[in-house]
Amino acid sequence: MTDPAVRLDPAVSLAGVTFRGPVFTASGCAAAGRELAPYLDLGTLGGVVTKSVMRAPRAGRPTPRMAETASGMLNSIGLQGPGIEAFLAGDLPWLAERGIAAVVSIAGHSAQEYGELARRLRGAPGLAMLEVNISCPNVESRGQVFACSAAGAADVMAAVRREIDVPVFAKLSPDVTDIVDIARSCVAAGADGLSVINTLLGVAIDTRTLRPVLSAVTGGLSGPAIKPVALRCVWQVHAALPTVPILGMGGIRSGLDALEFLLAGASAVSVGTAIFADPGAPARVQCELLTALAARGFGAVAEAVGVAHGLTAPREVVAYGDEL
Ligand code: FUM
Repeated sequence: MTDPAVRLDPAVSLAGVTFRGPVFTASGCAAAGRELAPYLDLGTLGGVVTKSVMRAPRAGRPTPRMAETASGMLNSIGLQGPGIEAFLAGDLPWLAERGIAAVVSIAGHSAQEYGELARRLRGAPGLAMLEVNISCPNVESRGQVFACSAAGAADVMAAVRREIDVPVFAKLSPDVTDIVDIARSCVAAGADGLSVINTLLGVAIDTRTLRPVLSAVTGGLSGPAIKPVALRCVWQVHAALPTVPILGMGGIRSGLDALEFLLAGASAVSVGTAIFADPGAPARVQCELLTALAARGFGAVAEAVGVAHGLTAPREVVAYGDEL
């Protein structure tokens, strides 16, 4: 029997750019893709979202900077990375030479720095899209979490928009009173789409040492524990801004998890923390998602986006089989 997923067009369009599939690697969990190459064919994915790159090389926060929590992972990496010049000389060409779509995540200390990074990336071969990380919780001060202020988020997005014409997505934080307010502000400032969500700020305490596990005390929580929060954010943003593309992420481990994000309003998804246990997870999730979509009669990924919002009454439960 022919695999039903074979009949489904896997391509997705985000702000006018066509990507090969609906699943991307999530920023921060796979550097710039190279480390994953032995485990999956990166070229079949929508693309690689790189670890956020900053202007200068950074060592990040002191260790310990990762902790396992119930159904989650806490990190306080602190934006470790090679800096934009090394990234442009090594990581981006590596992706471009292999025909892998690069979604470059950028992070800065000020709107001006974000603008400078966008300017450096202008015209770079292989660059498909920018993800503007305004929501890293592990920065020097909470004032630098630009996604926690509508005005701060808008300043950054406007600075980036002025410098580059590839699609620009703003990565939002769930740690805000009203994520829709921030989303609107980013879009008004020129964002073409939104990445929803970054990690939630958390703490873990070691009951043997009686001290915080992370040297930085706080870290960003990711993994399955945050999936309902991420879905809630995607839902709220899609309901308010239905024409704005969303790259959804937060605790996705399976094709059915990814399907939930599409139904809530995401146009595509990123897989991150699952990579630590299963480096091939993005390709597996994509395969499972396409199979699940086909089993439900969708002919294209876009047909599923936001479908759950259209339900005014409970629908008949259909048995698709455990694996679908
Ligand atoms: O600390 C970090 O490098 C994490 C970044 C992020 O969550 O955006």
